[in-house]
Amino acid sequence: MKIIAFVTQKGGAGKTTLAASIAVAAAEAGHKVIALDLDPQGSLAAWGETRDAEKPDVDRIPQGRISELPTILEALRREGYTVAILDTAGLESTSGNLAMKAANFALIPARPSRLDLQATMPTIETLMRLEMRERFAFVLNQCPPGRNSRSTEAAAGLAAFGVLAEPTIVQRADHQDAIAAGQGVTEYAPEGRAANEVRQLWRWIERKLKGKSQ
Ligand SMILES: Nc1ncnc2c1ncn2[C@@H]1O[C@H](COP(=O)(O)OP(=O)(O)O)[C@@H](O)[C@H]1O
Ligand SMILES: [Mg+2]
Repeated sequence: MKIIAFVTQKGGAGKTTLAASIAVAAAEAGHKVIALDLDPQGSLAAWGETRDAEKPDVDRIPQGRISELPTILEALRREGYTVAILDTAGLESTSGNLAMKAANFALIPARPSRLDLQATMPTIETLMRLEMRERFAFVLNQCPPGRNSRSTEAAAGLAAFGVLAEPTIVQRADHQDAIAAGQGVTEYAPEGRAANEVRQLWRWIERKLKGKSQ
C-alpha cells in the first residue's frame, strides 16, 4: 500500500481540497483507496459523508487514536487497500508529523508566493529530520490562471531543487464547487481543466512511487 500525506502547517494551502480530488483520481485509476482525515477539523471526513459514490472509502482518525496511525495503516494494507491518502491538520503538528513518518511520499501544497513558500519551512525541516529528502514535493496550488511570472518563478525555483510536483494547479472554481458537491474535480467536471490537472498530478505521484513499495 502506498501512503501519500498532504502536509503543511500553513492552513488554506489546499491540503483537503487536493487530498479529496487525488483520492478520487486514484480510485478512478483503478486503485483501492482509503482517504483518511487526521485533522480534528474533519473537513475531509465531512466531504466523505456528503458523497454518494462508493469509492474511494473515506474515514477519519479521532485525535485520541492518532498515535495508532501505523497500526491502523497496517490493518488497511491487510484489507487490500493499495493507496492511502492522509489529510492532516494545519497548525497542530502531531498528525502532520505522524503522517510524514508513515508516508511513502509527502506533498506540500503551497500558493506560489514568497510568504506562502516561506511558511512551509517548519514542514520541510521536519521532513529533513525524518530523512524524507527524496520523498517529498511541493504542489503549487491556487496559481493564477494564464502565464503568470510569479508562479513561473516559484515553479522554476522548486523544479531546480527537484522538489516540484507537476503540473502546477491553477485556482479554479471547479475545485470549490466539487468539494461543495461532495465530489472530486474529476467527477464534478471530468472534461474540465481542473480535472485534467488533477489526473496529471495523480500520474506524476504514481510515477514517483513506482518501485518504492511498503
Ligand atoms: N486549486 C484551487 N482552486 C480554487 N480554490 C482552491 C484551490 N485549492 C484550494 N482552494 C480553496 O482554498 C481554501 C483552502 O483549501 P483547503 O483545501 O481547505 O486547505 P487546507 O486543507 O490546506 O487548509 C478552500 O476554500 C478551497 O476551496
Ligand atoms: Mg484542511
